[in-house]
Formats: sequence, structure tokens, C-alpha cells
Amino acid sequence: MKKIPVIIDCDPGCDDAIALLLAFASDRMDIKGVTVSAGNVNINNTTENARKLVGAFKPELKIAKGCEKPLFKTIVTAPEVHGESGLGSVRLPETDKKLEGITAIELIAEILKESEEKINIVITGPMTNIAVFLMVYPELKSKIEKFIIMGGSSIGGNVTPSAEFNIYVDAEAADIVFKSGVDIVLCPLDVTMKAFVTEKELGEIRNIGGLASEVAYGAIKTSLDFYKEFYQKSEVPMHDPCTIAYLLNSELFKGERVFLGTELKGEFTYGETIIDYRNKFGQEKNALVLTEIDRAGFITLIKKTVETLNK
Ligand code: BDR
Ligand code: CA
Repeated sequence: MKKIPVIIDCDPGCDDAIALLLAFASDRMDIKGVTVSAGNVNINNTTENARKLVGAFKPELKIAKGCEKPLFKTIVTAPEVHGESGLGSVRLPETDKKLEGITAIELIAEILKESEEKINIVITGPMTNIAVFLMVYPELKSKIEKFIIMGGSSIGGNVTPSAEFNIYVDAEAADIVFKSGVDIVLCPLDVTMKAFVTEKELGEIRNIGGLASEVAYGAIKTSLDFYKEFYQKSEVPMHDPCTIAYLLNSELFKGERVFLGTELKGEFTYGETIIDYRNKFGQEKNALVLTEIDRAGFITLIKKTVETLNK
């Protein structure tokens, strides 16, 4: 079966870490590079987390550091969800894995220039790197197969009443990506809130044993502790892994093609995504927005990932 060529732009981040594990474990993924954005924590920490994850599980991959702040705003981070380090209680082994000596933007350009086939770009953090890339290298847009993005919501936000974190951190960047003309698959909170892991399932993941199991357990447990404290829930959504799960098996999901935009001006609504399910604006439909997930299939994929990486 043909492999799926992909660049992953991420801000690890507990659920970003699970997304990376899903990609690392699959022999169907052809990961061309990992690029890192600021978001859940500052750029030095997200980069260090990504570097250690790559070093532990896929050291042959290229990895590069991206922008340290959003296009226009100061950075907003989420240490209350992901811990000060960005990976909560996860302890990753030391590694001598080196970053590429070029920026994330340059690495994306280099990979696309050299590629004879179109490449998917998965984005699991704020979209600053990708927006800058699109502005600097517009001629390489045609080399992108599609963007698979975790971000946005039509069911209320998790930072403000209407804005989801990844969009809120850099809505101007999201606006550039949404208007790029590149096809988009969006995993908003609408679907990712249904992609939850229960405490019992977390126990089963822990029982698999080995490094991948410890990392997955630590990452999910850190997010679960936050969910317990703030929302009194004993299950936690795994937002970012939905992107990789979709690429690996789109049949796990249902969605609708819609016009997707973002609010940049609202006094209370900055960073709200406009997901025009009813086509009220009559605009061109630029995204497939995922709304439903086969949760049992998703959990099986996470468990299989941990087992594969431990082999
Ligand atoms: C998104 O925000 C981050 O905290 C997560 O890593 C995910 O990408 C969910 O709103
Ligand atoms: Ca993320």
C-alpha cells in the first residue's frame, strides 16, 4: 500500500505527543519532517519535547524549530493543562538527536521543493509557522496535498466562550491558512471532544508496559488530572491524535464540507471559527470539517500504537 507523505507541525503538548506516537508507529506513514511551533508552552520547551520524542522513537527524522511567537500578538500558553514543561509528568530519555540547522519554515520549503509527490501537512498547534511559510514560499503551495488541522470549534471554545486554543493563540495565522486555497481537513472540538480516553482505558494503556506505554500514560494522565480538577470528569479528550487517526483511517470519521473562516475583530469573539454548516454566507466550501468519530476504533489505534512502539 502507498505510504502517506506527511510533515507534522506541532507544539508538544501532551496530546501532540500522542499524535506523534500514532504517526511514529505506523508503517503507512512516510514522515518527511517534524516542525515545532510555540503554543502549549514556549518554543524552547515545545522544541525540547519534540526533539526528545523523535530521539526516543524515530531518531532518523528531521526536526526543526519554528517561530517563537504569533504573528501579531504576544504568546498565550497553557501550562495548567500540559504542565510547565509541556509534557506534565512524562520523563523522556536524554538523546543526542540534533535539530536541523535551519528554521521550521525553511525545512518545510526544502522538503516540498525536493518532493516529486504532494505532501500532507498536519498541524496540531497554532498555525504561525505555516502562515509564515505560505507568505515566504507561495510558489510551493501547489506541493501541499492538504492541511489536516486540529483547531476551532462550533460548540463553544476552551479558551474563551467561543474560541479554541490553537486558533485563539494566532487567529491571524489561522486566517492565512484557511484562505490559502489549499484543501483543509479540520478536526475541531466538535469531533475531538468525542475522542476521549476513559480512566479505565488509560489503565489498560499503562498495563502494556515499556517506554511508549509510560510516555502515553504520563501524557494522557497529565491531561486527565486537569480535566478532573477543572471539569470533574474522569475522561479526557485526545484532540491532536484525531489528525493522524484521520490520515491513517478516514473511515473512523464523518464530516461535512463547509466554508471555514475565523473571527479576527470581535470584542468577545476573537479566534472563533466560523464553520458554516448551513451555508449561510454562501462562500466557497474550503474545508472538510469532521464531526463524528468511531471512538472504539480510535482507542484500539492508540493501544496498537503503544504495542507497536514497544516491539
Ligand atoms: C488544542 O490545544 C492544545 O492545548 C492541544 O495540544 C490541542 O492542540 C486543543 O484545543
Ligand atoms: Ca497541540
